[in-house]
Amino acid sequence: MNSRVPAVEARQLVKTYPGDITALSGLDITVEPGTVFGLLGPNGAGKSTTVKILTTLARPDSGAATVAGHDVLRHPDRVRRAIGVVAQNSGADPVATGRENLQLQGRLHGLKGAALGRRVDELLERFRLSDAARRPVKGYSGGMRRRLDVALGLVHRPEVLFLDEPTTGLDPEARSAMWDEIGRLAGEEGLTILLTMHYLEEADRLAERIAIVDRGRVVVEGSPHSLKGELRGDAVHVELREALGEAGRTVLGGTLGRLPGVHEVLIDGLRISVRADEGAAVVPALLATLERAGVGVAAATVARPSLDDVYLRYTGRRYAEADSADQFVLAGGAR
Ligand SMILES: Nc1ncnc2c1ncn2[C@@H]1O[C@H](COP(=O)(O)OP(=O)(O)OP(=O)(O)O)[C@@H](O)[C@H]1O
Ligand SMILES: [Mg+2]
Repeated sequence: MNSRVPAVEARQLVKTYPGDITALSGLDITVEPGTVFGLLGPNGAGKSTTVKILTTLARPDSGAATVAGHDVLRHPDRVRRAIGVVAQNSGADPVATGRENLQLQGRLHGLKGAALGRRVDELLERFRLSDAARRPVKGYSGGMRRRLDVALGLVHRPEVLFLDEPTTGLDPEARSAMWDEIGRLAGEEGLTILLTMHYLEEADRLAERIAIVDRGRVVVEGSPHSLKGELRGDAVHVELREALGEAGRTVLGGTLGRLPGVHEVLIDGLRISVRADEGAAVVPALLATLERAGVGVAAATVARPSLDDVYLRYTGRRYAEADSADQFVLAGGAR
């Protein structure tokens, strides 16, 4: 692949499902070859739909995309040869052994004989599955299954590997091991990895660039470092005892915004988030203002900018809340 051609390029992808469900509403991404790119977003944001379109499993209503330089709509066969796909749900045959799964996958990609045997052994070894190779997959742990899924996606040495939530559902130890695994893969021979994820700390650790997806489009894109850097100063979060009404939010937002050293105020249900040069320095004035306004405070914390703050800033909602629409309505509405 020509190194100047992006490994993945999506332009204005739109996808709707029956029942007036808009999965994608004009999604753009560009992934440079040899990099790890993370699509980050809450449930239903459109991450899997994006992966399905880029891996030729679904067609967009409009928009265009290329993968490894091939147009996904005009040359889906070329795209398929160039990519490996690890779907959100495991594609391994549970009745077959790990080795059989890899052998079958290899044959589907035209490998045979000694070359197939070598590749299968190599992958079993590298994903620490050699000892379990002869056991049926249904007896594997979650972490072992996920490692096998990734190995299956790599059998034919793809240029671009798609990983749809490789670590969701794994326990912390297996998750951490998977991060290491992906980190090692990324360092190898120009492999490009596009992965989707839920956890902000994963994005921070794994991806060189991330795009935050919300409601079917990219709301912000950049390196985790630069995204955090764009947020000036510390984040101060104040948990309230009772949610503020619309009028209270407006008045208080204005008052807090005029405190010295405060740049930004976001009032979201039971929580006030303030961005300030020196977080600890504004806390006393902040609490005094709230007390004067008769607003009960349950807790106050000061933190360095995190990707969670980036998400809050660009979507106006907290990351965890966006995962549950009901919770968001409750938190945002008058109670
Ligand atoms: N086959 C389908 N039929 C109807 N609606 C669908 C279908 N697939 C996805 N959707 C809807 O499209 C939207 C985006 O779904 P998608 O699976 O892409 O989200 P996601 O970001 O991968 O979410 P998750 O984090 O839960 O995996 C959601 O509203 C979902 O309900
Ligand atoms: Mg998904």
